[in-house]
Amino acid sequence: MLDAAEQLSVSELRQLQLGRLKQSLSHAYQNSPHYRQAFDRVGFEPSSLGSLADLSRLPFTTKADLRANYPFGMFAVPIEDVVRVHASSGTTGQPTVVGYTRDDIRMWSEVVARSIRAAGGRPGMKVHISYGYGLFTGGLGAHYGAEALGCTVIPMSGGQTDKQVQLILDFEPEIIMVTPSYMLALLDEFRRRGVDPRTTSLKIGIFGAEPWSDPMRQEIETAFDIDAIDIYGLSEVIGPGVANECVETRDGLTIWEDHFFPEIIDPESGEVLPDGEFGELVFTSLTKQAMPITRYRTRDLTRLLPGTARPMRRMERVCGRSDDMMIIRGVNVFPSQIEEIAVGVAGLSPHYEIEITRPERLDQVKISIEAQPGLESGAVDAARDSLRARIKTQIGVSTTVEVVAPGTLARSAGKAQRVKDKRNA
Ligand code: DLL
Repeated sequence: MLDAAEQLSVSELRQLQLGRLKQSLSHAYQNSPHYRQAFDRVGFEPSSLGSLADLSRLPFTTKADLRANYPFGMFAVPIEDVVRVHASSGTTGQPTVVGYTRDDIRMWSEVVARSIRAAGGRPGMKVHISYGYGLFTGGLGAHYGAEALGCTVIPMSGGQTDKQVQLILDFEPEIIMVTPSYMLALLDEFRRRGVDPRTTSLKIGIFGAEPWSDPMRQEIETAFDIDAIDIYGLSEVIGPGVANECVETRDGLTIWEDHFFPEIIDPESGEVLPDGEFGELVFTSLTKQAMPITRYRTRDLTRLLPGTARPMRRMERVCGRSDDMMIIRGVNVFPSQIEEIAVGVAGLSPHYEIEITRPERLDQVKISIEAQPGLESGAVDAARDSLRARIKTQIGVSTTVEVVAPGTLARSAGKAQRVKDKRNA
């Protein structure tokens, strides 16, 4: 049932990783001018690699390196061998482009198939995919993985919320793969139609591509009566399927370490931190051909934990990105902290937006959050005051909270944009 790599002992896994790392680093050194220069600059010769810890001698790769080599400069194979490209737009500047050989697509499909299986998916199940298809890796990444597992794929892509709900009712998928924020939009649509979401065929939701929280997991699980499982990944490393939660333990995401080697660093100093400590996640690909990547700085904040359901290490749910962190009057705040508190206040929904302004010299934070459908108008003030007070005591910042009617805030069909920082506008 499990892949061979999922059944290794930890020491066998480390041996496999060391062998693959050597090969991957020499492939990068020999075939990518970027890596040849980067390794030469620090006097690193791939054949001198003695242990996995030696990786820390190498420089980091960042989004800026990918941009500087736009579009295909990071590829380590002739373009004829690249069967697919994807790109992520990001918020600023040039998109970053990634490429895949046929073997890369096969490996990616395997890790996504493994992820769906870890979430409880089985061959023969129907998978409704609402991640966007196109340059974004979510749709096609999920699609190939679900096919590889032997599932029936419904390639819905994002958007057309009413049609999504109709097809779920008609085609009766057991699994849905979608961003958690868009799942909430689907929830609204079920309720608008008067359909109890607990009565649908769905049993498993595989959610990722954006930060979410445990309270949001509970909300979705209760509303739909499903297992809500976390999937993580990023385009530069492969796409979805770098790590996935195992349904039997639900204790963080197992990193598919036979293909992606993780490190945690101090985001300030770049120094490698021991397992268990919080910091920025860094990945080195071990088997990728078209675009090997070494020590890629994800900007995602988490920590590494020992394996439980599998020999591979786990990463805790991503608590935020170093570049999403809002510094409000000197206090570091992540949107996910506000979300966790908001979801715990009775009468409030997980649909919210955070606006930061600086009208005089002091940062002002305004949180707009939707009431749950059916919240009595008399209870609105209490919900608002409770959220404001909890944020003040738990995070230490003062905010203005506005509770708005259900359905008022914009819904996104993909990754939610929750923070509007207007301080420099
Ligand atoms: O979002 C790949 C993906 C698609 C993952 C579908 C899961 C499901 P990018 O567009 O390159 O790739 O964005 C990657 O999204 O660095 C994280 O900041 C964030 N992210 C992805 N998964 C999670 C998650 C895809 N489970 C960036 N929890 C990453 C929190 C996530 N953040």
